Amino acid sequence: MTHVTMHETETTSVSDGLGIIRFLKGKSYLVTGATGFLAKVLIEKLLRASPEIGKIFLLIKSNDQESANKRLYDEIISSDLFKLLKQIHGSSYEEFMKSNVIGDIAQENLGFDSEIAANISDEIDVIISCGGRTTFDDRYDSALSVNALGPGRLLSLAKDCKKLKLFLHYSTAFVTGKKEGKVPETTLSIGGNINSDLNIEFELKLASEAVRMFHGSEENKKLKELGMERAQHYGWENTYTFTKAMGESVIHNQRGNLPVVIIRPSIIESSYKEPFPGWLQGIRMSAPLILAYGKDHIPHLLGDYESYWDIIPVDMVVNATIAAMAKHGCGNVPSLKLYNVTSTSHPNPLRLGELMDFSQQHLHDSPLRETSKDLDCIKFHSSIESFTSSVSNTIVKQESETKNGEGEAESHTPLSMKGKRKLKYFESLAKLYQPYLFFQAWFDDTNTRSLIQEMSMEERKMFGFDVRCIDWENYIFNVHLHGIKRVVFGGRSS
Ligand SMILES: NC(=O)c1ccc[n+]([C@@H]2O[C@H](COP(=O)([O-])OP(=O)(O)OC[C@H]3O[C@@H](n4cnc5c(N)ncnc54)[C@H](OP(=O)(O)O)[C@@H]3O)[C@@H](O)[C@H]2O)c1
Repeated sequence: MTHVTMHETETTSVSDGLGIIRFLKGKSYLVTGATGFLAKVLIEKLLRASPEIGKIFLLIKSNDQESANKRLYDEIISSDLFKLLKQIHGSSYEEFMKSNVIGDIAQENLGFDSEIAANISDEIDVIISCGGRTTFDDRYDSALSVNALGPGRLLSLAKDCKKLKLFLHYSTAFVTGKKEGKVPETTLSIGGNINSDLNIEFELKLASEAVRMFHGSEENKKLKELGMERAQHYGWENTYTFTKAMGESVIHNQRGNLPVVIIRPSIIESSYKEPFPGWLQGIRMSAPLILAYGKDHIPHLLGDYESYWDIIPVDMVVNATIAAMAKHGCGNVPSLKLYNVTSTSHPNPLRLGELMDFSQQHLHDSPLRETSKDLDCIKFHSSIESFTSSVSNTIVKQESETKNGEGEAESHTPLSMKGKRKLKYFESLAKLYQPYLFFQAWFDDTNTRSLIQEMSMEERKMFGFDVRCIDWENYIFNVHLHGIKRVVFGGRSS
């Protein structure tokens, strides 16, 4: 009897779960970065999981309403990603897709006119801050303006929203700049866990002085260099993670009484299941490394075979986001909760070497280009010098094969201009990725796992994000490589 009672109690609390569907019903959202990889998957899932959703205002960077509408149509409504929704809604699909607004998080008041701002402040329940500059070595002024200051501008808007329930921001798991040991689920703040010498105002001044000084042809290059120098000076690997860290600190200091959630995903890759396996947008994250091997036939990689390669499928990030929204968007509690949505705490975390082994197996069975030659096994290099020299030899050999139809090249054969450009590309790719190719830290995801525990069985099925269920070999071999190929072949799945 006791056993039955306990079981019933357990079942009741588990079956209640977080009340995700109840939470989503009738809610309205403002999503920034709406044309980006992550936001699109989130928008699709919100619309599919809850047809009775309120409005979704999509913030799209554009010069005018006409071009915003065009971007909405071309990049979102007609995207293949939304094909399941199109099937569900048939001819009413376009009607079903909601509003969009023009805005720029790099501008004061986000570039909104007063009518839009009033509309938003009356209607929005949740602000989802997904816009960001995601290039590792971006111009310092642009990255500062968007990643460091953008969240503060959105927070100001949030404070004017009459019925706002939650402000949710995407940071990155790599934001701490830590390369070894455990990365905790705690937010960064200047003067707290970030060196108090760092002063955002001063960094902005440095960047704007650089813009004045290098105005002209050198401007881009110099501003990119400045960002990397400042990041490394303060112990971060690149401009992206450095400015995202400042963004977290701004949120920490300026959130006032707002309920805030920060989601820190690791490297976001192809969808695991939803809306279909293998959805990916753009060639980035692990794709350039895999393509260097499979497409350009460069069997060399700078990196440690055993280092962690912490990836997370995009649909799992989205599901974790929705679960966190339901948990923290109900109580009006002015708390700040952080979730590492990562995979290094998997009982068998993915290693860089495994990523390349599984990719190698896939590309061996199903090559990216027609070739009579087998792909060579990948060699891992521990120094940039050894990597560059091996890549250079490979390119010389390839050029000689193309020219003479045979593989033997003299060691002193010079590279063509095209070969030199190729070498420069692979060298700069290796340098940019270097911190992640020797990565030894792991991310604590206690908060994220507790969130799963609070979900009902039904919610876990509909909004699953338990990374422990991922079989890496199957995911890389059968899902992610197909995602990459679909992007490479422009939508056609090979
Ligand atoms: N992808 C990952 O592996 C990863 C991992 C961890 C965290 N994150 C974080 O997740 C968020 C989304 O990432 P993502 O991969 O979806 O990035 P993404 O594909 O590069 O998309 C970024 C989005 O932000 C928009 N944006 C850039 N500057 C803006 C501005 N000034 N005003 C308004 N919007 C602006 C872009 O608009 P345009 O299309 O006009 O450029 C784009 O829609 C980012 O905050 C990123 O830091 C990403």
